[in-house]
Amino acid sequence: MCESCGVVHAKWSGQCSSCKEWSCIKEASNTKRIKDEEIIFYSIDSDVVLDEQRVEVDSKEFSRVCGGGLVKGSVVLIGGAPGIGKSTLLMQIANSIRAKTIYISGEESVSQVMLRARRLGVQSKILIASETKIDLIIDSIEKDTQVLIIDSIQTMRSSGIDSAAGSVNQIRSTSQLLIDFCKKNGIICILVGHVTKDGNIAGPNLLEHMVDAVFYLESSTNYRLLRATKNRFGSTNEVGIFEMTSVGMSDVENSSTAFISESGSSRIGSCVYSNMDASRSILMEVQSLISHSNFQNPRRSTTGWDSNRLHVVLAAVETVCKISFANKDVFVNIAGGFKIFETAADLPVIISIFSSLRQIPVDVDIIAFGEIGLSGEVRSVTNQDKRIEEAINLGFKKIVLARNSKVSEKNKSKVRFMFVENVRDVFNLVKTGF
Ligand code: TYD
Ligand code: MG
Repeated sequence: MCESCGVVHAKWSGQCSSCKEWSCIKEASNTKRIKDEEIIFYSIDSDVVLDEQRVEVDSKEFSRVCGGGLVKGSVVLIGGAPGIGKSTLLMQIANSIRAKTIYISGEESVSQVMLRARRLGVQSKILIASETKIDLIIDSIEKDTQVLIIDSIQTMRSSGIDSAAGSVNQIRSTSQLLIDFCKKNGIICILVGHVTKDGNIAGPNLLEHMVDAVFYLESSTNYRLLRATKNRFGSTNEVGIFEMTSVGMSDVENSSTAFISESGSSRIGSCVYSNMDASRSILMEVQSLISHSNFQNPRRSTTGWDSNRLHVVLAAVETVCKISFANKDVFVNIAGGFKIFETAADLPVIISIFSSLRQIPVDVDIIAFGEIGLSGEVRSVTNQDKRIEEAINLGFKKIVLARNSKVSEKNKSKVRFMFVENVRDVFNLVKTGF
């Protein structure tokens, strides 16, 4: 059986033909059925106490990504590139939890960890150790520990396994031991995971299945973003925004406007867009540049946005508005290094493209959101009311949105709504300077 993907093979071979991992096929015996244990089945309304006990964290951003504090007995995996600030963030989180916390570093010496902790102004009594032997760690941890931080899982090794620390086998076995121990004792376990060149957490994919939550720390130009890709206790659409300062990672207070520039009253090739996470909207600036192409195949390049989406949107514009982009390079960029996954960004992208194409500026008090369909129609998007309210709160004067969207009379008196039905309307709107 392949230890990496679980596929059963008829004979041994050096490489698994299914997952392409090397030396992971191990002999497995037919499992015998043992009949001496019985499972206890519970009905949903039975009396077993199931309430999620959460431990408060000071950082609002971290807490938001968790779904409101860390859940007792949960295992969280935090991945990110080297130097992004994983150790720093976790030391601060450990400091803000007023509970018995143990921080085990497999990468740094005790004095290094201590120096960092002092620089960060850590007050609470966190216990620090530098150790990589997992069996020893588990044996030494007292049962009343509430939080255990392992930095990082790739440096841990279990004595029962020959392979080097960081190998698939070691990671699987050490994390299994840790997870079992923490779940049994209701300890919150936070694991740091290294990432590979392509940005995935190193080790078996199985690791991400075993833990309760997986967060990735990424960098955007000025900020650090914490994004959940799996969370058994909250939404995965949340993003936490931090800034790396001389005293560690701090929450970004004005997160809704952190990604838009403040200069000028109007800009060419740029439009503000309101991105919606699970519980809040963040304003972002979409920028486009259309230039004459010197190549046979004109370039279509996007940063922070899906390039396939750009092709679809351009095709719709070419067909409906009879504008040709055949000899033009098109570049789309989401300012500040943010990534947009929503189709609601189609409309602001189109506005910025038209603006750059005709060199007509877009006022900074205009905000837009809407999806573009294949026939060039503009569609309304989810969470419209929340986006509108946030835009009004932040002082925007004009909102461009789909014709069929419903807006309340109350809001109508506060801002000017500009309804568009298809991309031709959008083009006319930009041409006439809104
Ligand atoms: P670190 O948490 O060690 O990263 P990781 O554990 O993800 O590898 O952070 C390392 C970087 O953070 C390093 O380049 C220095 C910087 N940093 C600050 O800017 N301010 C600080 O207060 C600290 C502790 C680190
Ligand atoms: Mg580190």
